[in-house]
Amino acid sequence: MKPIQVGLLGIGTVGSGTFNVLERNQDEIRRRAGRGIEIAMVADLDTARAKSVVGDKAKVVGDAREIIANPDIDVVVELIGGYGIAKALVLEAIAAGKHVVTANKALLAVHGTEIFKAAAEKGVIVAFEAAVAGGIPIIKALREGLTANEIQWVAGIINGTTNFILSEMRDKGLDFDVVLKEAQRLGYAEADPTFDIEGVDAAHKATLISAIAFGIPVQFDKAYVEGITKLSAADIRYAEQLGYRIKLLGITKRADKGIELRVHPSLVPAKRLIANVEGAMNAVVVYGDAVGATLYYGKGAGSEPTASAVIADLVDIARLHDADPAHRVPPLAFQSHTLGAAGKDLPVLPMGEVVTSYYVRIRVSDEAGVLAKITGLLAEAGISIDAVLQREADEVGGEGSTQTDLIILTHDTREGNMDAVLAQIQGLPTVLAPITRIRKEELN
Ligand code: NDP
Ligand code: HSE
Repeated sequence: MKPIQVGLLGIGTVGSGTFNVLERNQDEIRRRAGRGIEIAMVADLDTARAKSVVGDKAKVVGDAREIIANPDIDVVVELIGGYGIAKALVLEAIAAGKHVVTANKALLAVHGTEIFKAAAEKGVIVAFEAAVAGGIPIIKALREGLTANEIQWVAGIINGTTNFILSEMRDKGLDFDVVLKEAQRLGYAEADPTFDIEGVDAAHKATLISAIAFGIPVQFDKAYVEGITKLSAADIRYAEQLGYRIKLLGITKRADKGIELRVHPSLVPAKRLIANVEGAMNAVVVYGDAVGATLYYGKGAGSEPTASAVIADLVDIARLHDADPAHRVPPLAFQSHTLGAAGKDLPVLPMGEVVTSYYVRIRVSDEAGVLAKITGLLAEAGISIDAVLQREADEVGGEGSTQTDLIILTHDTREGNMDAVLAQIQGLPTVLAPITRIRKEELN
């Protein structure tokens, strides 16, 4: 059978990995796919650099639209990134009847509904394994391997940059700003790391996971997003003393009245496997009603790990290219006509409706009755305390200090309830600084 013809848009980090791995493993890949997969054309703004990667093995062009206009190209692989030109090119490729593979989580999380609708109308595939957790085949696991299950929740470390920063903060007892500079020096964090450290990148990925796990539309605008910039070395240390590690988790969960979709720092029991995922690695736990908890671990970024996922999508397309679209695996796991209906039944819940437990650090004056007053307010709000830690004032504020940190772990409560009682506690004259509140996930 004639090799499937691929056009690559953008040959930077992931694009060059895709080209190199396909070249290196082409025999094995052909035996798996049942036909060859040939990168026939490559578009990049820097054509000289592109030529240095592909040599004379593919035609290099400066204008991506030349690829889209070529009737011989079956699949367009978008590896440019962002919402701008990438969106236009993906929609044009679909309109031209080409299948699309993309690693662009930002594009799909924000414009996925429009893109998947256009692809369904045209009968082409939009595949995106590389968009979530890089080399980990989590999309395939959720969409196919766990298809028997009613998924209860998914929680993942799905941003390597922030996991590297948190690991370093814990290991070395350093503050966020210091470690961020080090991460930039080592090339882990980008010059503009905003999307990573503010949780936006993880929220893009969590949004895609939520759609596939629960059969709801892609709704990035409904995700709650909180990054790691306000975390202090003290909170990481206190969490450790209480038997927890702090991780930036992307969480999506089935609740009574809808779906939780949130990214924020979370305390996780140190004994959980996911709490021990260190450095730039990613890991995702999926809890299905039949299978229980399953864990997926690996590299969430990098040239060849991400290429591994891009090529897996290309193999799927090579196998399914000629199949009736109705017989293909739906891109969002559920048949598209069911998405709207499920979405209506399962709204993404506002944060005030989320039920979870909390770590609270309160800087107080070290005097009689302070702890009793605070625990009294929590009790009045029906919030049960799981553990309390109070450090010696000298240890917290230096010798002779009259201030100390009170750390309280709570059991589950509704976030709206917690917000209200924290506002009351903040107003007490013996509370001396803004309260730190970090959510806690037992993941059991
Ligand atoms: P790079 O910046 O390394 O590569 C993007 C390439 O696209 C560059 O060579 C760029 O050229 C080129 N480009 C920009 N505009 C155009 C255009 N109009 N036409 C053709 N080429 C263009 O990005 P990555 O490879 O890191 O990322 C690609 C995608 O993969 C992104 O969506 C990213 O989020 C995603 N991703 C990346 C991962 C990673 O580890 N890097 C992991 C998972 C997903 P120039 O440099 O000259 O601007
Ligand atoms: N910036 C992302 C990360 C790259 O740090 O995980 C992979 O999506």
